[in-house]
Amino acid sequence: TDAPLIDPFARPISYLRVSVTDRCDFRCVYCMSENMTFLPKKELLTLEELDRMCTTFIKMGVEKLRITGGEPLVRRGIMGFFDAMTRHLDSGALRELTLTTNGSQLDRFAADLFAAGVRRVNVSMDTLDEKKFADITRWGRLPQVLRGIDAAQAAGLRVKINAVALKGFNEDELLRMTEWCAARDMDLTWIEVMPMGDIGNEDRLDQYWPLRDLRATLGQHYTLTDLAERTGGPARYVRIEETGQKIGFITPLTHNFCESCNRVRLTCTGELYMCLGQEDMADLRAPLRASPDNAALEQAIRAAIARKPKGHDFDYSRQSVDGRVTRHMSHTGG
Ligand code: GTP
Ligand code: 5AD
Ligand code: SF4
Repeated sequence: TDAPLIDPFARPISYLRVSVTDRCDFRCVYCMSENMTFLPKKELLTLEELDRMCTTFIKMGVEKLRITGGEPLVRRGIMGFFDAMTRHLDSGALRELTLTTNGSQLDRFAADLFAAGVRRVNVSMDTLDEKKFADITRWGRLPQVLRGIDAAQAAGLRVKINAVALKGFNEDELLRMTEWCAARDMDLTWIEVMPMGDIGNEDRLDQYWPLRDLRATLGQHYTLTDLAERTGGPARYVRIEETGQKIGFITPLTHNFCESCNRVRLTCTGELYMCLGQEDMADLRAPLRASPDNAALEQAIRAAIARKPKGHDFDYSRQSVDGRVTRHMSHTGG
């Protein structure tokens, strides 16, 4: 009964990303519209239900859990959920418990996260310029995030910075961000902007900065060595020989990594998305609530995995953007 989760393309599913809230204290322009309407609280899975969902996936072979949002640390009571997941680390069933955060609450939570067994956090930070940071997040305060990053490192957490590569926005900060991360012994990953959500009139084609260009620029300043190693995510890495740091590239548009996809995504309302770049999803909340016994839930999970698609259809190569997904990135947590 506990056969591992394998999708139709023979990919083992060992990584679950869980969005615990659709809310966020920022409004990054490529992620959310300015006046997002958030879900009524009663739509959300309770923390107990989230625990039951995650525990079921872990029983079915998930070894890596990444908590996302929205901003996961704005969900009330979230530390209790992290603490509850610690038992799966202790039993050895879960190999990694981690989160992707905007960093705004890290100064408060870093020590507790470490105590719960978290060892790494990915912090989203697209610029080191206070003014530009306020613009891209619509009102976020960079010093608060920097305090959070310091607190995370002081608590013993390894920090990886995620930056969305945006033409005309952070192109000029490539070297500054690289050096800043190197000085703090942090890895840095660049992400190609994906056509997700209806975010108003901005044209993604104008913002799109292909990472092969970014890499070429970096290569003019540093010696880059390709690394074969992967961390179980879509990023490919190079090492900068001069600093020893790793730079990651997440290139859904220019280099498809879907063939080695190992993940599915659970939303805060209990929808399971089999691919970030497709609209198909399975409702797991109904089978979860239908019975205290997990048989129906397990069956629904297997049925969902059995229709995981081969990959996304994002494409900027034509005049318009193809493969657009209308739900916002914050819905599935990136
Ligand atoms: P590591 O464990 O550090 O490798 O993390 P990760 O890259 O799996 O997670 P992270 O939250 O740092 O992911 C960074 C971003 O990469 C996400 O927010 C997404 O924007 C993008 N990303 C992650 N997984 C996928 C995926 O399966 N497909 C696509 N298209 N993008 C993804
Ligand atoms: N394209 C690429 N990355 C995005 N993120 C949010 N929206 C997009 C998008 N449209 C990133 C955030 C964060 C992660 C959760 O997803 O910057 O690093
Ligand atoms: Fe919030 Fe992250 Fe979306 Fe920015 S990218 S609005 S920090 S969820």
